[in-house]
Amino acid sequence: MAGGAYIESGRRQYEGKVTAFVLITCFVAAMGGLLFGYDLGITGGVTSMEPFLVKFFPVVYQQMLDDSSTNQYCKFDNQLLTLFTSSLYLAALIASFFAATTSRLFGRKPSMFLGGLFFLLGALLNGFAINVEMLIIGRIFLGFGVGYCNQSVPIYLSEMAPAKIRGALNIGFQMMITIGILGANLINYATSKHQNGWRVSLGVGAVPAVLLCVGSLFLEETPNSLIERGQHVKAKTMLQKIRGTNNVDEEYQDLVDASEAASKVENPWKNITRRKYRPQLTFCSFIPFFQQLTGINVIMFYAPVLFTILGFGNDASLMSAVITGGVNVLATLVSVFCVDKFGRRLLFLEGGAQMLVSQIVVGIMIGMKFGLNGEGSFNKGEADILLLFICLYVAAFAWSWGPLGWLVPSEICSLEVRPAGQAINVAINMFFTFGIAQIFLSLLCHFKFGLFFFFAAWVLVMTIFIAFLLPETKNVPVEEMNYVWKSHWFWNKYMPECEDLVAGAYNNSEATLSN
Ligand code: BGC
Repeated sequence: MAGGAYIESGRRQYEGKVTAFVLITCFVAAMGGLLFGYDLGITGGVTSMEPFLVKFFPVVYQQMLDDSSTNQYCKFDNQLLTLFTSSLYLAALIASFFAATTSRLFGRKPSMFLGGLFFLLGALLNGFAINVEMLIIGRIFLGFGVGYCNQSVPIYLSEMAPAKIRGALNIGFQMMITIGILGANLINYATSKHQNGWRVSLGVGAVPAVLLCVGSLFLEETPNSLIERGQHVKAKTMLQKIRGTNNVDEEYQDLVDASEAASKVENPWKNITRRKYRPQLTFCSFIPFFQQLTGINVIMFYAPVLFTILGFGNDASLMSAVITGGVNVLATLVSVFCVDKFGRRLLFLEGGAQMLVSQIVVGIMIGMKFGLNGEGSFNKGEADILLLFICLYVAAFAWSWGPLGWLVPSEICSLEVRPAGQAINVAINMFFTFGIAQIFLSLLCHFKFGLFFFFAAWVLVMTIFIAFLLPETKNVPVEEMNYVWKSHWFWNKYMPECEDLVAGAYNNSEATLSN
């Protein structure tokens, strides 16, 4: 095993152990997910708290009181209020592009630190807000924080992790997102009955932000990023430390080769549009689009509204939101344990099938009860069955599109297009998160129960997309991904000709190809 690499089923595998150092490092970095999760979970609850609305949106509050519609499909919908909520996602979208440049030029660590700092400022401005301006500026800072973290953390995790447990470590990010959502639901539950409860809900966001800021000061930079920025000696020492062996020559050499290829790139944004990066561009664009088109955020943002519509009482609906939040966390654990064993494809395909069936059942149940005019209610037994299928749907998302939506884009890009690819992933994800938040209530009013079939149809499309186009990437070192494209029935035609694919020789020679 000269140089610390061996060949397994035609691909290179590196030697090395799973060290405590790498586990702790990835745990700290994954905390970046808490910020995003906390915000996803907190905002819907806060914007339905009466004292919050009276203070900042009195007109909206009055309109809400005047709204006497009994149609369950057409609930009170105020664009200004939803725009306030979703402004964060627009800010995150813009920030992800700046984050890509920061990550490339200065490293992944500063991006994570900045993410935490922006979020901290945002949480403080919101928690202490005395007028709408403070609230909105705060939200923009929160968005910057999310954009910076979501761009840098998944890349950081994929680069630090040894290939054989990269999936599990990267999913730490999604795990933290789900913990953030659940924590936020619980906090909202506790604060919703207090006059200034909304301040606590919004201000507590400062806690994960401080954790990330302080944590990131102690984190080490990834070897890939160190080499990219010319710090070769430090990079090799770091690689030895995270792999727990001195025998890292092969992996180190591959990182150097990848970095040489990267240094030839003048414009990373233009680069990713070149033909040979077509698979990366395709997946970094379609995966986030499809992730949002599963309809998951209808549940995450509107769970209390949705459960009230479905006939659960006011408190019961918050509790149901907590139940789906709990299922979300637990089911994510399933993917942590399965992703490197059974692979990404199996999770995507099983998760897709399960979501499809659950959405169809939910659509049929709602259609049969509310019909087209939206009048009716569920009895207790029916409501429980409905909750069960909603939980089955959330569980399926939580072990498939949820974590894989962050893992796959971060692991399939070679170094020279990685920050750009991940920024595209974040930007598209945020754009559609924003879009769904903005139009869900009016979609429900127009599509009625058909909305669930609408998302089910998208789930079918995305499952077919994965079945035909996504190659398996489990256990493949990140700088060795080209092998995977080259052996794929569809993507191989986009790869430049190269004779020797085995053991990374493809990577090395590719650096010299002009294509
Ligand atoms: C998605 C979010 C979603 C969350 C639910 C994340 O992967 O990007 O939009 O709310 O999962 O757990």
